[in-house]
Amino acid sequence: MKSSMKMGVVALIGVCVVFYQYHLSNGVRFDQLADFNSPDPASAYGAANIPGSEMYDYNGLRRVSEEMIRAAVRNVQNSNGLSPELGNLLVQELMGQFNKLEGVRPEKPCPLPSKKTSTLDPLYIITPTYRRPEQIPELTRMAHTLMLVENVHWLVIEDANVPTEQVTKLLNRTGIKFQHLIAPMPDKYKNKKGAKPRGVSNRNRGLKWIRANATSGVFYFADDDNTYDIDLFNEIRQTQNVSMFPVGLCTKFGISSPVVKNGKFSGFYDGWIAGRKFPVDMAGFAVSVKFLLQRPNATMPYRAGFEEDGFLKSLAPFNPREIQLLADNCTRVLAWHTQTKRNEPSAPLDMKLYGDTNLVHLKQQIV
Ligand code: UGA
Ligand code: MN
Repeated sequence: MKSSMKMGVVALIGVCVVFYQYHLSNGVRFDQLADFNSPDPASAYGAANIPGSEMYDYNGLRRVSEEMIRAAVRNVQNSNGLSPELGNLLVQELMGQFNKLEGVRPEKPCPLPSKKTSTLDPLYIITPTYRRPEQIPELTRMAHTLMLVENVHWLVIEDANVPTEQVTKLLNRTGIKFQHLIAPMPDKYKNKKGAKPRGVSNRNRGLKWIRANATSGVFYFADDDNTYDIDLFNEIRQTQNVSMFPVGLCTKFGISSPVVKNGKFSGFYDGWIAGRKFPVDMAGFAVSVKFLLQRPNATMPYRAGFEEDGFLKSLAPFNPREIQLLADNCTRVLAWHTQTKRNEPSAPLDMKLYGDTNLVHLKQQIV
């Protein structure tokens, strides 16, 4: 064997040992390396060097990928002249070894919340909602996310005069700790022309509930039309006072986020600044319960477009430089303003034709 080839093999054995230890510490299987979060193929070979190309499992752990092994072998190939055949053989061998480890550490990447009493402080998720055709599908989607999170307390607050029975039924099926409250939008805003302060009465009701019932933990305003990565909840649990993080599908910029320069907060990126001190999205911040309780006057104003800013300003004393940056210094998008398409209410059912059919039951479940 040529000496350069020997060096290549020695280097690869080193790589193998490092990957083996990494695998043991994270308990990752190859079949768990779902491509949900994988970088695009073009960047795959340089994955290890490109910021933000790391992959995460749902516990926030960086994962080893097949691409990383290929990239490592390719680097050694380039620097030591290993033949492509030998390179491919080594990739296969390394992957084979990893797959064998499956039996050694059979860990799930995303364990369901344990039924045991959690030692984590509660996460209060304040969700405004209102009766419309999309309400139940939106809440179903959200419930299925929250069911994967430990010790959440879901405050579902309807802009309605009476709680909707279908919502109560859904909440009961989830097994999540919840409060189903109502907080109708005051008539003077409801009858107003133009933009309405949507979800404000609901969120203020949520704050009132927290003031009366909570002593620790973190709360988060999570509208029912967003998509939440379950890793977001691991992140916001770390909130000391007020934390912030990016939200995708927001405004004409496609994203709303604090700007981070040299690891420090340096402003806001948002398609609609409008003189706001805190130009952020409702889904882009979380607050600790203790911090709220120390500010008895904090409230959300009925001012369309300025709800977030008004609320954050009401948390004074609090300034942008005190923001705790989450989601790896705001480099990951963990919340999306999905905005489901609006649907017209369904046409009435012809009872003469269908009064004795299943459609009567179905009709009760839709708007
Ligand atoms: C976002 C903010 O959540 C609003 O508070 C703000 O007024 C708005 O941006 C803005 O900046 O203009 P947006 O996405 O535009 O809201 O509105 P929706 O998603 O329709 O409503 C926000 C939340 O309030 C949702 O959870 C929705 O279910 C609820 N909502 C909406 C009500 O409870 N009542 C309504 O009449 C409308
Ligand atoms: Mn929305």
